Amino acid sequence: MKIWLDGGLQDIESARVSVFDHGLTVGDGIFETVKTVNGRPFALTRHLDRLARSARGLGLPEPDLDEVRRACAAVIEANPMPLGRLRITFTGGHGPLGSDRGEHGPTLVVALGDTTRRPDSTAVITVPWTRNERGALTGLKTTSYAENVVALARAREQGASEALFGNTVGRLCEGTGSNVFVVLDGEIHTPPVASGCLAGITRALAVEWTGAAETDLPMDVLQRADEVFLTSTLRDVQGVRRVDDRELPGAPGPVTAKAMRIFDEHAAADLDP
Ligand SMILES: Cc1ncc(COP(=O)(O)O)c(C=O)c1O
Repeated sequence: MKIWLDGGLQDIESARVSVFDHGLTVGDGIFETVKTVNGRPFALTRHLDRLARSARGLGLPEPDLDEVRRACAAVIEANPMPLGRLRITFTGGHGPLGSDRGEHGPTLVVALGDTTRRPDSTAVITVPWTRNERGALTGLKTTSYAENVVALARAREQGASEALFGNTVGRLCEGTGSNVFVVLDGEIHTPPVASGCLAGITRALAVEWTGAAETDLPMDVLQRADEVFLTSTLRDVQGVRRVDDRELPGAPGPVTAKAMRIFDEHAAADLDP
């Protein structure tokens, strides 16, 4: 297995970053997860745009996107697989033990792992912890993801694959690694970015391709929506068949199934939409 680090491909067994890397010590880093299908990345340009946006938001140096593109291509070529999860990680680099940044420059790692296609429907839970729609990191895809680790572990304990958060004012926000959509009277709705959710790339494509509305929604919409679905890079569009104790039999329902179809058709027609 080969990864990209320090400007070139390296063996995963011998690749090393500093134990004082600010990504490790304080979570000072950003990342992207990109789907690869038969050796080709999906929506790479959008992912690189968001990487640059996250870097600006965190005050990291601007990543060299030409290098990141070369790194992605090299890692994909070195590790052939049918369905892959390409991970770009960009951190503050070797730094002091506190929150001040060091002078050594950033760390870029690109790695690839194999994955399998998700089932068409899944179970989710809601969690009592909040997303902060007014935080310094809101909307940035940072490596400070331990809140998501805790919430996802809670979901797994309850036989679910995702945990959904409300924000500080009790409105529906997002999952640990996905955006959420609901169907009300045949219309598709998803919380606006102002709710504090990540501007998911799959979310944006689903909104564009299905005409879904961006609507501020209460948490309890999950108890009355006709259908619920998730979007993310590795889920694409995925139906929800249980929210906490509420069963949604027959998921994916008709509107979700149509959204899945539309998404698959558009994605197959254009790998970098
Ligand atoms: C917190 C969070 N929300 C939403 C998403 C979905 O975004 P995307 O569709 O770009 O994968 C992700 C990323 O996977 C995420 O980490």
